[in-house]
Amino acid sequence: MSQSNFYITTPIYYPSGQPHMGHAYSSILTDVFARFQRNNNLKVFFLTGTDEHGLKIQKAAEQNKLDPLEHCNKLSKVFKELASKLNLSNDDFIRTTESRHHKAVNEIWNRLIKSGDIYLSKYKGWYSVSDEAYYNEDEVVEKDGKKISTFSGSSVEWVEEESFFFKLSAWQEKLLNFYKENDQFILPTSRKNEVINFVKSGLKDLSVSRTSFTWGIKVPNNDKHVVYVWLDALTNYLSALNFPDTSDVLYKNFWPATLHVIGKDILRFHAIYWPAFLLAANIKPPNRVFGHGWILSNEEKMSKSKGNILNPLEIIDKYGIDQLRYYLMKEVSHGSDGSISLKNLENCINSDLANNYGNLCQRVFSFVKNNCNNNVKKTNSYSKNDKKLIDETSNLTKDLRKLMDNQNLNHYMKNVISISFLTNKYINDEEPWKLKNINNEKMNNILYLSLLQIAKISILLNPIIPNSTLKVLDSLNIQKESQNLDFLDGKNIFKEEIKIKPLDILFKKIN
Ligand code: MSP
Repeated sequence: MSQSNFYITTPIYYPSGQPHMGHAYSSILTDVFARFQRNNNLKVFFLTGTDEHGLKIQKAAEQNKLDPLEHCNKLSKVFKELASKLNLSNDDFIRTTESRHHKAVNEIWNRLIKSGDIYLSKYKGWYSVSDEAYYNEDEVVEKDGKKISTFSGSSVEWVEEESFFFKLSAWQEKLLNFYKENDQFILPTSRKNEVINFVKSGLKDLSVSRTSFTWGIKVPNNDKHVVYVWLDALTNYLSALNFPDTSDVLYKNFWPATLHVIGKDILRFHAIYWPAFLLAANIKPPNRVFGHGWILSNEEKMSKSKGNILNPLEIIDKYGIDQLRYYLMKEVSHGSDGSISLKNLENCINSDLANNYGNLCQRVFSFVKNNCNNNVKKTNSYSKNDKKLIDETSNLTKDLRKLMDNQNLNHYMKNVISISFLTNKYINDEEPWKLKNINNEKMNNILYLSLLQIAKISILLNPIIPNSTLKVLDSLNIQKESQNLDFLDGKNIFKEEIKIKPLDILFKKIN
């Protein structure tokens, strides 16, 4: 894959219940990286979808008294609608019940059989339906008379059944070498260390088929078995590129994936099993897996039983989608958990959006409308204070691409919002309102620089708050083809004078 192509994915979601804030967070984070790289002139393919097989889904369907496929059709639609409400810019939405996906899973299975990495035996051990994961004896404890996983806290059940196994143990050393040679494969570094320690402690062969239920992709040539849902699900990243047709333009352009964005709970599957399956099937592993933290509600993990699940749709209706996107991206810092609350959401909307960026746009636009007939002349003659603002801004922008290349979104946002803060301060200090009819040229120059700053900030915030920034960029008459990061390399955003169109209030302050 060439450097100019960027393939990014969210985890495909289990359509077992209604989507919640954790799903929203994971999706928006991925969307922000995708939008940023599009603005960075890369060719981006952004994939999301639903993970529809396995016991967890079969049980959810039974509870709803629906046939599993009917259940999935219904809930997958809800996730698809969520993607649109979250304003995701995904290029595809894959469902693992689609025939293109079945084809890819069959091919992977056949390759693993051919390479000698799969054998038939019997599984005896613990299984968590809610995690769709096998746990070792030392990962299970008893709590309130129930066996649970120490890793996730989910309840586990004892399983004994005929099963195909993947020779994961044979990949231990090769995986360790792979991590060494690709030291940016897992980010953040703390998660990389966690994975390496787990692999070093010894890998057991992995059961990759089930015989005690039927809702899954049938194992080729042995339809007593269905493929283990994680081997099935991970393959979605290939199916969407029309694998096994490796001559397909999507596959050629976008594999290996640039970035799988996932939550920390599913790191083991993506950072251990997935590269092992791929290496065994003679397919290049992805370039990176980024494991983000968890969204907590008022310091606690969200759960139905605690009744603290914040519903993203209700929040969008009440506060707006850009407001939710900005808040979630700001509150959860690079790979750590983040605690969210309505109070903090409201404070964040007021401080960063209404009082800072929103106020900057509103005050400059209304001043230019009322005093300059919506028109500001281009200038290159900058005062000492202008130059100071320009220098401070370039200091804050010089590392932005690198920060995003390392998924360091919080640092990125901090820098961009600082530029907005500094620009507001510059306007307060320069007091252009005192210059009207006294020094119109200087007043014009201050406004030109202020509008230029607004244009830069809007392009930089565009991946996070696309709707509001597009309104501003449109009011600045900046065409689509110029809404990119070329200005970071010194290219002019405005070639001529700036003609503005009216701009409505962007963010209402919450009292
Ligand atoms: N179906 C699997 C993924 C298969 S990818 C080949 C799955 N689905 S999920 O719906 O349970 O979770 C999807 C993503 O949402 C995961 O990355 C998970 O970490 C994330 N989140 C679920 N709850 C979360 C929070 N409370 N906070 C942040 N993200 C969490 O896992």
